[in-house]
Amino acid sequence: MKKHNYSAGPCILPQEVIEKSAQAILDFKHSGLSLLEISHRSKDFVAVMDEARALVLELLGLQGKGYQALFLQGGASLEFLMVPYNLMKENGKAAYLDTGTWANNAIKEAQLFGETLVAASSKDENYNYIPKHYTVPQEANYFHCTSNNTIFGTQMKAFPELAIPMVCDMSSDIFSRQLDFSKFDLIYAGAQKNMGPAGTTLIVVKDEILGKTGRAIPSILDYQKHIKAESMYNTPAVFPVYACLLTLQWLKKIGGIPAIEKINQAKADLLYAEIDRNPLFKGTANIEDRSSMNACFLLQNEAHAETFDALWKAAGISGLAGHRSVGGYRASMYNALPLESVQVLVAVMKDLETKV
Ligand SMILES: Cc1ncc(COP(=O)(O)O)c(C=O)c1O
Repeated sequence: MKKHNYSAGPCILPQEVIEKSAQAILDFKHSGLSLLEISHRSKDFVAVMDEARALVLELLGLQGKGYQALFLQGGASLEFLMVPYNLMKENGKAAYLDTGTWANNAIKEAQLFGETLVAASSKDENYNYIPKHYTVPQEANYFHCTSNNTIFGTQMKAFPELAIPMVCDMSSDIFSRQLDFSKFDLIYAGAQKNMGPAGTTLIVVKDEILGKTGRAIPSILDYQKHIKAESMYNTPAVFPVYACLLTLQWLKKIGGIPAIEKINQAKADLLYAEIDRNPLFKGTANIEDRSSMNACFLLQNEAHAETFDALWKAAGISGLAGHRSVGGYRASMYNALPLESVQVLVAVMKDLETKV
């Protein structure tokens, strides 16, 4: 039986992506070779990379607007470092919004390069809200924010209007909701939530913001070198990029971001309604900042944990344990999680009322 997979990432992928990936490992495009043993320079793989890069821009509505899509390695964590390397001028400054563990990790890397201003932080309330009404210092070379805070279950619903480049870590909500993506000058996201398996990172960057720092950048960390090499500066993560292409094709087929946004909203509405209705549970994030991807909640009474855990496990649910920084439970409802899985979880939460 397929589990209801609530894992925070790596996480559930569309079934057809798993099946087509498995087929490609056995025999890639009837070539008599496995996807795992073909050259990244082969005609078939170059076509995969080209289509994946183009489809990213198409789905985000960024085609022909001066953006490039890259599939690199090193995870979103390497982008914490590549962003300041490529965008912070010698003796420059950067501004960051501190909304959680990952934002904080990004700040720590930027501090290695120059003055890093924290425009606002929600650390005072264990990151259970998104700061509002802050000002971004306009002397900064760029502003960095995290659209969805995977660990704390908060999500930015609005983004500032800025005259300086805006950089966003969209690791855990890319392709999940409609935004004006052209407001961002650089977006990055580890693949392992809404795109594919771990092993590649998507970067979407506007050409015009690059090459302005006066820094010498090591080649492997230089976005311009990767753009020039069409995302093949070094051997790309062949299998993860192919799986990402399959997910992007799946998303396009079902109607793109507008269609998945409706499904994601329905899932989040259903679960949060139960968290708010059921007296045995409470949500941890500020209601207006709740994430549609990661819902964090606690039991009102810890003594019910054993019964609840047994119930959801018996219902075929996996990956519901909360992150240690928040405790309790975290239901990650990425694009590929069907509404039916949320219906099962809600039924289990209701069932708990009859058992305690
Ligand atoms: C919002 C966010 N940023 C960055 C990361 C780190 O990603 P990676 O493990 O790909 O370095 C994660 C991982 O979960 C994340 O959720």
